[in-house]
Amino acid sequence: MKIIVLASQKGGAGKTTLCGHLSVEASLNGHKVAIIDTDPQGSLAAWWNERESDSPDFVSSSIIKLQDDINLIKNEGFDYLFIDTPPAVTETIEKVVGVADLVVIPTRPSPHDLRAVGKTVDIVNDCNKRMVFVINGAANRARISTDAAIALSQHGAVCPTVIYQRTDFASSMIDGRTVQEMDKASKSAIEVGELWKYVNTHLRNGKLRP
Ligand SMILES: Nc1ncnc2c1ncn2[C@@H]1O[C@H](COP(=O)(O)OP(=O)(O)OP(=O)(O)O)[C@@H](O)[C@H]1O
Ligand SMILES: [Mg+2]
Repeated sequence: MKIIVLASQKGGAGKTTLCGHLSVEASLNGHKVAIIDTDPQGSLAAWWNERESDSPDFVSSSIIKLQDDINLIKNEGFDYLFIDTPPAVTETIEKVVGVADLVVIPTRPSPHDLRAVGKTVDIVNDCNKRMVFVINGAANRARISTDAAIALSQHGAVCPTVIYQRTDFASSMIDGRTVQEMDKASKSAIEVGELWKYVNTHLRNGKLRP
């Protein structure tokens, strides 16, 4: 089983949105997928509670029993576990990053987000884990998205697919769905599919950090 942790110290970067979307995408690709919400805000849990679909499975956990729960999930034959985290530099984050096979760091293409990303990178490096950045919430053809990709590439791999700012990323989650469950041919759905392929390739080829 591969464990993907969504982390970024900056609030509102897109951790929960991408955690939900990636976990559904992996499920739609025929994998057995579980999700865990370690954020006291509970946004991922609230989204999942609205869902009609049975997958992904939600596992109610806590930082104290995280490792035990991971062992149980592994024994149940799950292929992937996605973990959402809170936007803070806390011990929780370090513990969760510590169990990751890959840390996905969503970053908005803004100066504030780019300046804040160093703290997340430090935690991932301290834990000796691999990471990929995803530019999320980009405006069409904005120069700053290219600049952001260049800045982020100093720290690690950047997903070549940018996730654009689109209302369906927010509206689809209101009733527990995702963009690909609303319209699988939408631009947003295609972006999510490409992001999942990129993340999965990184997980599968097991490269060491650049
Ligand atoms: N690509 C996008 N297009 C449009 N809206 C988006 C996009 N990504 C995220 N959002 C919206 O931005 C807000 C913040 O996103 P989200 O909750 O996923 O961030 P987060 O990193 O989990 O936040 P927090 O740090 O508070 O946990 C939400 O209202 C979400 O619907
Ligand atoms: Mg969140």
